[in-house]
Amino acid sequence: MKRRSGTGCFITFEGGDGSGKSTQSRLLAEYLDTVRIECLLTREPGGAPGAEDIRTLLVTGEVDRWDAIGETLLFNAARRNHLRLTIWPALDAGKWVISDRFADSTMAYQGYGNGLGVEAVQRIHDFTFGHFAPDLTFIFDLPAEEGLNRTRGRHDGEDRFEKMDLSFHDRLRDGFLEIAAKNPARCVVIDALKPVEDIQKEIREIVNGRLLS
Ligand code: TYD
Repeated sequence: MKRRSGTGCFITFEGGDGSGKSTQSRLLAEYLDTVRIECLLTREPGGAPGAEDIRTLLVTGEVDRWDAIGETLLFNAARRNHLRLTIWPALDAGKWVISDRFADSTMAYQGYGNGLGVEAVQRIHDFTFGHFAPDLTFIFDLPAEEGLNRTRGRHDGEDRFEKMDLSFHDRLRDGFLEIAAKNPARCVVIDALKPVEDIQKEIREIVNGRLLS
């Protein structure tokens, strides 16, 4: 069920907090618009009404509000809702979909960061989604300290994950890099310390080369 013929392309942006992926996903959506590709920009956790409700449960409150298993199940429930009501209908209608975070975030944050482990997260993923996967994933890589500096002082109340300690964010970074190494055909690692314009140029070249040529 990876890529169904006649459907649009599915591109995901992944990485630690403060890595700049939200800005870059927006800029890519603007570019696709200029080349007349109909594109839906969405995000996780969220992207559908039920998933947005679950988002509030996940990103607010105390760090120990959920344990790793409870958190993983909530992220997967939100993702199932997002896929069923937003992503799959758009792809089936021939649109491209860009998601700011997707399943690699669960593997990195819950599997590596929270220590639930790769196998447990993969099992829940496989049960919930089968073999569905993005066509292309950009993984934004940044030293953990730099990401934390960039997000420090966020006052939107959505700071439950930023409250995790530096070692959590280090494990997260290693996790994302391991995911990229295991999935070289799907994932491209982006050096998130580069200037915004340079990163966007690189992303457009990759999309042109892999999906538009
Ligand atoms: P997000 O809104 O993308 O935050 P940011 O804009 O800072 O990147 O996501 C909220 C938090 O949820 C973020 O710290 C990462 C975390 N998260 C997980 O732990 N697992 C997941 O599967 C997803 C999608 C997000």
